Amino acid sequence: MTITEVGRTARIEIDGREGTIKLPVESASDGSIGLDVATLFPKNGILAVEPGFNSVGIRSRITYINPIGDGKEATLQYRGYPIAELAERSEPIETAYLLLFGELPTSTQLADFKTAISDETVAHPEIAVLARHLPSNWHPMGRLGCLVSSLASLLPVTGDTAIEQFDRTAIRILAQMPILSAWTHASKAGLSMPEPSGSRGYVENYLAMIAEDGDTVVDPLRVRIMNAILLLHADHEQNASTTTVRGIRSTAAGLYSAISGGIDALSGPLHGGANERVIAMLRQIVEDGTSPQDFVSRAESSKLKEDRLMGFGHRIYKAYDPRATIMRELCRDFFAANGTTDPLLQTALELERLALSTPYFVDHKLYPNVDFYSGILMKAMGIPTDEFTVIFALGRTAGWLAHAREMQLDPDTKIVRPRQMYLGELNREFVPIEERSE
Ligand code: CMC
Repeated sequence: MTITEVGRTARIEIDGREGTIKLPVESASDGSIGLDVATLFPKNGILAVEPGFNSVGIRSRITYINPIGDGKEATLQYRGYPIAELAERSEPIETAYLLLFGELPTSTQLADFKTAISDETVAHPEIAVLARHLPSNWHPMGRLGCLVSSLASLLPVTGDTAIEQFDRTAIRILAQMPILSAWTHASKAGLSMPEPSGSRGYVENYLAMIAEDGDTVVDPLRVRIMNAILLLHADHEQNASTTTVRGIRSTAAGLYSAISGGIDALSGPLHGGANERVIAMLRQIVEDGTSPQDFVSRAESSKLKEDRLMGFGHRIYKAYDPRATIMRELCRDFFAANGTTDPLLQTALELERLALSTPYFVDHKLYPNVDFYSGILMKAMGIPTDEFTVIFALGRTAGWLAHAREMQLDPDTKIVRPRQMYLGELNREFVPIEERSE
């Protein structure tokens, strides 16, 4: 097959097949190009086949990633604003507004948005009962998905127009997520469900609800760190959980169901669940005395997924993940402010040093990702390890909602229904069970 680009059209010629297939060429904001393959199958009967959809994309205006960036560090921008600037100067609710509506809010818009969220920051007793009765051996991510989907029965969608209904439901979800996240912890620990307070501030409310001593006054440094954690996780374009949310919404299923599906997809150890695994890996080094070099060597020589260096590598980034840079600095700030050091952080820094001077990691362009340092921070803040991915979900909810909103407003949105290249057997004759050989 040969593909040539002539102006705004790509011409594809396939050996042994007559004619030329013409596909429109499109430019992205950064000048990179893509082929519009929408007619490839309907007109030509040809499938684009690829596991993991690495070369197949959709159009979006929410989050931009340049995998190489300046050569050392990749670029991540929400609606065109660099992540480092947002982490320094914004807060999760302002960033949620930016992701959802495309612009930074004015003071009035932000105040109205905060009031709307605060008004929905109420405990629903029926959900509290459900949270209390969830099986104690469920992982908090399973609890969270279940609690979010249960909101559908309690908080029906209201509003005159479809987008008004969407926005009201999105605000409810944003308001309920800190409450339900805190309840996943309380219900697992057999505690009573802590009461939320919309007047405390979004992050302050969540931190107060998970405080072990029940103290509702939260330390400003913890607020600053949690602000940054939520904001750095807020969106990451078409990752597996966002693609799940988009897939569910494309069927016209409800928003609560879509967010619940996103939570399930996020829970996997190759996605959001990696932050838990990083801590297990670092503990094995610190507590069991395994050498960091052994970990790096095993990850390099083994082909097994379970031997990978957790918190390293990324489908998109081929340079340092800018979120990991910020997380690493936050770790340093946190321990410096507390006048302490952390053996897990020292171990992580050593693992990073070893890996980045090993040809395997350099050649494969494997760098620390957001999960490499985030768990160290959350653990230092006293958050139980199995709650880490819940916090990832709490942050990512803004992004999931922004993508669902973008779909809702896009007249080209269609039900997600990939095709397949069938490779199995054909036209077999049914064999009765007594004639089948064991
Ligand atoms: N340690 C060792 N080798 C690795 C690692 C790793 N962490 N990640 C990828 N590789 C190797 C892999 O063995 C393969 O080698 P080869 O080409 O020689 O067979 C090559 O790199 C490409 O790997 P891949 O699995 O084809 O890459 P992918 O883009 O499909 O996977 C990933 C991306 C994130 C699933 C993978 O890098 C990984 O498993 N990392 C560890 C889990 C992790 O930290 N996940 C969090 C991702 S960031 C948070 C989020 O957005 O969810």
